[in-house]
Amino acid sequence: MKRIISLLLIFIISFSLLPAKAGELVKDSKLLLLVNKTHPVDKSHKPDDLVSLGHEEYRMRDEAAQAMVAMLKACKAETGKAPYYVSGYRSYNRQNSTFNIRMNQKMSQGYSYDEAYNLVSYYSAPPGTSEHQTGLAMDLSMNGTLTSAFGETVQGKWLSDNSWRFGYILRYTAEKTEYTMIGPESWHFRYVGIPHAQIMYKNGWCFEEYMNALLSSPLYEYSEGIFYKVERRASLPFKDDSIISASSDNMGAYIVTSKVGVISFDWLVDGILPKIRQMFIAGITK
Ligand code: DAL
Ligand code: ZN
Repeated sequence: MKRIISLLLIFIISFSLLPAKAGELVKDSKLLLLVNKTHPVDKSHKPDDLVSLGHEEYRMRDEAAQAMVAMLKACKAETGKAPYYVSGYRSYNRQNSTFNIRMNQKMSQGYSYDEAYNLVSYYSAPPGTSEHQTGLAMDLSMNGTLTSAFGETVQGKWLSDNSWRFGYILRYTAEKTEYTMIGPESWHFRYVGIPHAQIMYKNGWCFEEYMNALLSSPLYEYSEGIFYKVERRASLPFKDDSIISASSDNMGAYIVTSKVGVISFDWLVDGILPKIRQMFIAGITK
């Protein structure tokens, strides 16, 4: 009996000494970095998967570039024309010099530094706060200029209504300047991917509002046969079959996107119950 116990102990001890099989962490896609005046990226931030869309100025991250090509192809098929690329990835230094040139122009017109800063930073992001530094933004135009007239063109309207289908959001609209702190730019499209662009479009949320919503609870979305769960987590998750992607949010956490079964307990609790509660509250406060 003693022998059996000793053998068993040896077996348990040697088994416990084996190195634990470490799970692999999901790669940080960095597709959902919130970049704005209060959430800058580092001077050294540069994506490592930039691809060219025909010119040095038209570089974007690979996934964003592929979605951009698909989007403009659909735009051409559905409206007869596609817009031109104007500006994609811009380094910190590039944004810095553009911003400084504009600041100097304003100050040479007699504005003080603070006045110039307020005026310029309403349409040109101060260095470190431009989405162009992430390689996920592209400015589009029908004639090479960036003016509000783009928003009135058939293509500008089509993009505003359809970019979400390709994972893009129209980032700076007149309705959301209090959140974005940037004036309306009908030409600036930002890639966030699916289902995020769809959730923002359907809820009428800008990126800042989307991130705020995720601070309080997970979100659920159905798109093309998949039920998605999007949630904010403190750290990158380990790989498993349900997790689709994870991205740092540039706010100290990660946005994790996973697939859920149609009948999932947490979907019922986190997804459906809050909706019923909202409907109930809306009903009794009417
Ligand atoms: N024009 C946008 C805000 C930028 O400079 O990134
Ligand atoms: Zn832009």
